[in-house]
Amino acid sequence: MPGYFMGIDVGTTASKAILCSADGSMLATASSEYPMQTPQIGWAEQDPHDWWAATCDSIRSIRDQVDFAPGELGGIGLTGQMHGLVMLDGRGEVLRPCIMWNDQRAAPQCEQLEQRIGIQELLDRTGNRLLPGFTAPKIAWVAQNEPGILSRTGMILLPKDYVRYRLTGGYFSDVADASGTSLLDCRNRRWSAAMLEAIGVDESMLPHVTESPEPSSAISHEGAQATGLAEGTPVVAGAGDQAAQAVGCGIVQEGVVSVTIGTSGVVFASSDQWKTPQGGVLHSYCHAVPGQWHLMGVMLSAAGSLKWYKDTLAESTCMQESQTGRDAYDLLTEEAATVPPGADGVFFLPYLSGERTPWPDPDARGTFLGLARHHQRAHVTRSVLEGITFGLADCLELVRSAGIEARRIRISGGGASSTFWRQLCADVFKCRVATVNTTEGAAFGAAILASVGAGCHESVQGAVKAMIHEEEEHDPGPQAAMYETLLERYDQLYPALKDLFRTMARQQQDAEDTPQG
Ligand code: XUL
Repeated sequence: MPGYFMGIDVGTTASKAILCSADGSMLATASSEYPMQTPQIGWAEQDPHDWWAATCDSIRSIRDQVDFAPGELGGIGLTGQMHGLVMLDGRGEVLRPCIMWNDQRAAPQCEQLEQRIGIQELLDRTGNRLLPGFTAPKIAWVAQNEPGILSRTGMILLPKDYVRYRLTGGYFSDVADASGTSLLDCRNRRWSAAMLEAIGVDESMLPHVTESPEPSSAISHEGAQATGLAEGTPVVAGAGDQAAQAVGCGIVQEGVVSVTIGTSGVVFASSDQWKTPQGGVLHSYCHAVPGQWHLMGVMLSAAGSLKWYKDTLAESTCMQESQTGRDAYDLLTEEAATVPPGADGVFFLPYLSGERTPWPDPDARGTFLGLARHHQRAHVTRSVLEGITFGLADCLELVRSAGIEARRIRISGGGASSTFWRQLCADVFKCRVATVNTTEGAAFGAAILASVGAGCHESVQGAVKAMIHEEEEHDPGPQAAMYETLLERYDQLYPALKDLFRTMARQQQDAEDTPQG
């Protein structure tokens, strides 16, 4: 049996590689960052060559940390940011920068396509509504705005699948990541011919999709030279970051739900059946576990909102961090704990990048409400943490009302490292939350998929059972009742502001379109 497995996560800010043994023990981690470009407000692009260069760096750094013989690496699992649009010409050359998951430019194309196809028909074909971050409307944007690029396109890939192409020379994807393109018939786990026709894409322009643990390709001669790994090492199909993160936290059967507080905030529930709840208000995708699906609510700016707050309005905590060596986020949560639940009437809506769940609205914007003269920064800080947590609670409620019981909630991501935030989650969700013994998230999930693909475990569920257990638990405390009332108030805010957000977005668009001078 091979000794080691590698997981590679082509994330939003960095490519991370991990090496673990067949029993899941972590042996090495490495990551290498890359920039994101914002050529216009609301746009987000990355150069796929940067992902490949960073991935090679991370793999080489792992090799420097652990010296293993070629045959000892049993397989690699790939994961990464979902929904990105990578376009290659017939020779495999990148035609334009990737249009990323958090890019909002395709809002008009979503409206046009939803009108043309019809929402119910879309739900029948794919299981999901169209949102600007998804791949299909971005292809429609390129067709309308850069027709020369589309006519030269020979292959359309998701971010991690571009890295796979450089590593193996093969064009493959997996059903979990492909679900986020809006081109996959998620119920039947294959490309939707009707959607491909509607978008004007031929199936030959898309990679072959398989289930996540399937060893669909292997490292090529070129891939081996670039990374120092052995030619022929199997690479399993892998999964989008959310499905892989769920595997890495053991969310592989109905009843256990995960909440991930990263840049985005995600509530993820495994489902034994394919469902499209409440007109597509949750994402309904194939899971990385063969034969399972999942429902998912995604907030675009969760810990991302706290980071923005730290770097702007609470910048002095960053200075304190460099002076005292104490983590700026710890300083902020300590400060938040000094004021009562509800921050004495201050609310924060975390819609810095627009929102997906529970309000799919690219025009929504971050908002502070209820400020008065007596408020201190601690109130504002607490309102930011609470606003993000209320948004997650709304996603959780949608999962529950889709008929999925959340018997247990496993919490992960950067936000979960704070005891204060974990307790806040237990209080607001009115449910026990627990951390798990692994913290490497999606990259670890990808490595688990590789170990299943290599036959070390007979199923993803079996692998997870052997490797993952719960650790720190928090039960709802005395503040839970108060949070029920506060959440009701919070839920009134977006509906009250929705029209205003739209008007403001239109005005801003008009101002940008008006020639200066
Ligand atoms: C999931 C999503 C994000 C990105 C980036 O739908 O958009 O989680 O995958 O992490």
